[in-house]
Order: sequence, then structure tokens, then C-alpha cells
Amino acid sequence: MAGSTHPWWKEASIYQVYPASFQDSNGDGIGDLPGVLSRIDYIKDTGADAIWICPMYNSPQKDMGYDISDYENVYPPYGTVEDMDAIIVACHERGMKLLLDLVINHTSDEHAWFKESRSSKDSPKRDWYIWRPARHDAQGNRRPPNNWSSHFGGSAWEWDEGSQEYYLHLFAREQPDLNWENEETRKAIYETSMHFWLRKGVDGFRVDTVNLYSKVPGLPDAPFTDPTSEYQFPEGQVSNGPRIHEFLGEMNAIFAQYGATMTMGELGPTSNVRKYVSAAAKQLDMAIQFDLVNVGFGPDVANKYNIGPEDALTLPAVASAVASIQGILADSDGWVTTYLENHDQPRSVSRWGSDLTDESRVRSAKLLAMFQATLSGTILIYQGQEIGVTNAPKEWSMEEYKDVASIDFYEGVKAKTGGDPKALARAFAGLQCLARDHSRIPMSWDASPNAGFTNGEKPWMRVHDNYALVNVENQLSDENSVRSFWKKMLRFRKEHADLLVHGIYKAVQDKDLNVLIYEKHSARRKAIVALNFSGAEQPVQGPPSIEGAEKGGYLSTYGDLVEGNLRAYEGRVWIGSS
Ligand code: GLC
Ligand code: CA
Repeated sequence: MAGSTHPWWKEASIYQVYPASFQDSNGDGIGDLPGVLSRIDYIKDTGADAIWICPMYNSPQKDMGYDISDYENVYPPYGTVEDMDAIIVACHERGMKLLLDLVINHTSDEHAWFKESRSSKDSPKRDWYIWRPARHDAQGNRRPPNNWSSHFGGSAWEWDEGSQEYYLHLFAREQPDLNWENEETRKAIYETSMHFWLRKGVDGFRVDTVNLYSKVPGLPDAPFTDPTSEYQFPEGQVSNGPRIHEFLGEMNAIFAQYGATMTMGELGPTSNVRKYVSAAAKQLDMAIQFDLVNVGFGPDVANKYNIGPEDALTLPAVASAVASIQGILADSDGWVTTYLENHDQPRSVSRWGSDLTDESRVRSAKLLAMFQATLSGTILIYQGQEIGVTNAPKEWSMEEYKDVASIDFYEGVKAKTGGDPKALARAFAGLQCLARDHSRIPMSWDASPNAGFTNGEKPWMRVHDNYALVNVENQLSDENSVRSFWKKMLRFRKEHADLLVHGIYKAVQDKDLNVLIYEKHSARRKAIVALNFSGAEQPVQGPPSIEGAEKGGYLSTYGDLVEGNLRAYEGRVWIGSS
């Protein structure tokens, strides 16, 4: 919480666990909480101080647990509330913190509240969700109450035959939006999703879709910006709405009752973030911003997988996104996060580095580790990132993609184009690059069947084809592995936390297509970071000689002490006085 300028969460390295895909303990093919428990020492050994577990609550799993039917119970295939208690204890015994995902913009349509709400227009819980009567067009056809589209495509409204009204869902139709205008509803949300787990000792939350709770009154139509669809994304009507800061203030007051908890909100773009993360404003401790990971995505939410040459991922665009996130530390009392992967993103090596050969994979994964770990803010590492896991192989067909967002997008293109093969090929190419599925592939632990993820026959999602080569076990025993480098890098980051966690970012060379150079400043010292994002050797000007660095204040992703040109995907950092 605000109050101290050095709370535990600023220098903490947070490791994100996706329960379905981390470790299966009982052979049913689904990762579970006993599996997580069995790997806590591994997570700690990687250099993590905290674990964020993605939703493990009871859920029909239409959106992998982001559709919660009971906040106070665990999804049975994952385990029980007692398993969670054991994980909390295990983390605390090791001096680690435990964070949960707080998903309260919506519930599942199977949550008891929604079932009651939908049961009739007179239900006492009718107003806990957002219900509206139909509109009718000139021909008398029933139409949704407004033109809003959902994040996953199509209308954001679903007709309920039983009670003859539409309800709002900004995500899948099985994720009805809660009505935050109703105070009784808010209190009930806080009790079941926050107090319940805070009393059990969790140390904070990653807050899902945190700026969507307050909708513009009257729910006006969204401006017409996407000519390919009759439904339009309601950015200005649902994001950063009129009461959002009031609601976050209420939540913050609850967290304050539990002492040193932390919150990180899923929120972007940076233009809106300062108000949320200012320490004085007492809203969220930090944001998980989208500026950087969205570089190279399609033009808007509805078309995010529709990528073309115009959406090229260039280094100057990357640099400008970084500068805008890091800028929050320079000109405000707010805090940020540094991350390149999570369960909604493809694998960073495939996207920003090169997965063409194993050599380029290893080199570029280390480069990205240095990039991310020399940026200020709280660092988030997603499971598998520490071993340089790549996207799904290009040979995989659409059947291997399980994510509701991928499927809805692909089916949407099919419906819009009458199944035009060219359009479908383009849609699939977008998914091969950006789908959320890539990060949801089960973890590759070792070279045994099914990558050591499960000893059952069928993992819920296909394991990676390259697991015999790219796995944890191989890398633990190899001091030149990506995992060994991550461990080293996280240690280096802590040793020079004044610069690498708290330092002020200053771009030095940010227009080059291959090499990015920046400095990090503290009161008395500075770091210089030079990163070659290309597979060819590149000249580098500016950085000092190795002798110019402080003792122990130099690191190359190649692990040696060489000056001159940067080698393929090489990154170097120097620490010295400013
Ligand atoms: C967030 C989650 C994502 C989920 C969505 C709806 O963006 O990270 O996985 O689909 O919210 O809850
Ligand atoms: Ca299991």
C-alpha cells in the first residue's frame, strides 16, 4: 500500500503460474494445486519472491477460470481450498508472497447471483447485473440495446429467452458484467472475492480488467469505427468510466485493513494510467500496461489478430512504448510493472526474438531477459519464459487452439466472409503469431512422455513438440542455459536495484532498427544497456569500456568480457557512476 516508498513489492520478482498448464499431480491431464505446491522450491530457486496464481476458483471454464461461479471454492480438478491454504503456508514459510487474480468485472453465468438475477425481472438480484430491454428495427426485428461489441467478437449483449431481456457481457456470453452501480452488489463482491482470501493470508491481487467496472450512464452507442462490423468496441463508454476512481478507492480502503498487501491492475494504455497508480491517489499500487506487448497487434481490440505488414514490430516502436511506460516513474509518484509475457500473450522469443534455430532461441531469450530485467518497476515472469519456450509449432492446426478468444475470432472471420479461404488463412496466421494459446501450452519439465507435465495419457492441451530439447531439467544442469541466465539476471537486478528496479529511464539510441541503447539513473550511479535485437553482428557506439564499469557491474548475455561489436542477439549492461 502507499505509505512507504519502499514496500516489499517494488523489488519483488513475481512468477506467474497458470494452474491448468503448470504441473499435473494426479494424471488426469489437468494441472492442479498439489502440482503447484510441488514446484514452489523450483519457483523460488528461479529467483522469485512472489507467486501470482491465475484463477483457480470454481468455474465452468468457458474462459479458463476468468468466468467464476464461486469465489470461495476451488475448481475441483485443481483441488480444494485446503490446497490453497497449504500453498499460502508454503510460500510464507519460504519468505515468499502469494497473489491471486481478482476477477470482478463479471462472473460466470453459472454464479448463483446470476442464476437468481436471470430467474425473473422481479428477482431481488435482477439489478446485480446489467439488463436492458430489446430495441426493434423498422422491420420489427429484435435488436440488442446498443451497438457495443464484446472483446471476443460479436454483440456484447445476449438475449435471455426466459426473462425476455438482454444482459451485458463485455467478454464471452458466459461472463455477464456485474452492475457496480449497485452498492449492495459491490459490498457482496468485496466480501466474497477480497475479504475471504485476505483473511486467509494472501498478500495481494492482480486485478483483472480493472478499468471497466464503471460504464457511462445510459449506455450510449459506441462511435462507428470498425466498418467490418455492425458492432463497435465501446472503449469510451466502458473504460475509465465516471465512477471508476470512487470504486477503486473503496477497494483500496479494504486492502489497507490487511496491511502490506499489493494490487496490480490490468490496465492501459499509459495515457490513462497515472491516475490509477499514483501513490497519493490510493487506487492501485501499479498497472500491468499494454503499450509494449501491444506493439504489432492489429488496429483495435476486435481486429487484434488481424495483423498485416502495416503492423510491423519495429524496434523504434518497441522503444517508444518502453519510454512511455518507464516515464511514469520519472514524472509521477506512480509505480509500474515490467513484463513481456503472460497468459494472454504469445511467447516473447517467437515474437521479439528468433525461434528459427535453437541457437537463436537461446541467444534471443537471454537478450529479452536482460531487456526486461533492466527496466524499472516490479518484474513479472510467466511460467516457461525462464526456459525460453516458443510459440506452438506452425504445423499445429486450428484444432489445437483451445482459447475462446481464438475460436471466437476465427469463427467470426468465417461467418463474416462466408468461409473465404484467404481470409481464414490470414486469420490463422494472426493466431499463429499472437494467440493466447501459445502461453497456455503445458509446461515442459523434462524429456519424459508429455514433458513431465502429466503422467496420464492425455494432457488437456497438447504439449510442445520441442519438449525433449527445451525443458527445465536440461536447463537446470546447464550453466549456459536460458534458465541459468534468468537466475543470474534476476540476482544482478537485485544487486543494482537502485538502478535496475528504481532507476529513471533515458533513451540513448531508440531509432535504430537493430540496436536499442538506454541508460538508467539513480542519484549517484548509472547503468548503460545495449541490446542487439538482430541476428547479425552490430556496431555499437557510446557505451564505456569494461574497465569503466564498477567491479562486478558488467554483464553480457554471452557470459564473457568482450568489447567492440555486439554479437547476434547480444545484450550488455554496464554499471558505473554518473
Ligand atoms: C483479462 C484476462 C483474460 C480474460 C479477460 C476476461 O484480460 O487476463 O485472460 O479473458 O480478462 O476476464
Ligand atoms: Ca490434475
